[in-house]
Amino acid sequence: MVMQRTFVMIKPDGVKRGLIGEIISRFEKRGLKIVSLKMVKMSRDIAEKLYDEHKGKSFFEELVNYVTSGPVVCMVIEGDDVVQVIRRMIGNTDPKEAPPGTIRGDYALSKSENVIHASDSIEKAQREMSLFFDKSDL
Ligand code: PPS
Repeated sequence: MVMQRTFVMIKPDGVKRGLIGEIISRFEKRGLKIVSLKMVKMSRDIAEKLYDEHKGKSFFEELVNYVTSGPVVCMVIEGDDVVQVIRRMIGNTDPKEAPPGTIRGDYALSKSENVIHASDSIEKAQREMSLFFDKSDL
């Protein structure tokens, strides 16, 4: 067993479309533990930090505008090898490539309105959860 924690965020389209319960239910049914959870309206500053690695790319501005356009639901989730498990459960960034049965394969509309974000490494998970959660929340 490799117990890990990761950061997951339901994006504004997922919240607007009423998918919060469905998404959390998938993680719980998979045996993963929701350690902490909050709904926030992200500031531009936090959005730019969250997506720091994409600064300078053509879609950066659109991405920051989009994730700050409405509330998001942030979670810290714990489980065996959870970073990889959740990345598999959410599916490819581009919904055209995400298999049915994955969250994006079932619900995402486009590469930007793709319902959910999850950290792709333990290091990123640490950094991303620290943008939204205090040590005392965890
Ligand atoms: S890259 O360049 O291949 O690393 O980028 P990619 O993995 O495809 O996407 C990184 C995140 O940017 C989001 N994205 C976009 N948002 C808004 N508009 C456009 N055009 C766009 N293209 C990509 C994409 O959803 C990824 O977000 P996260 O939250 O990391 O999944």
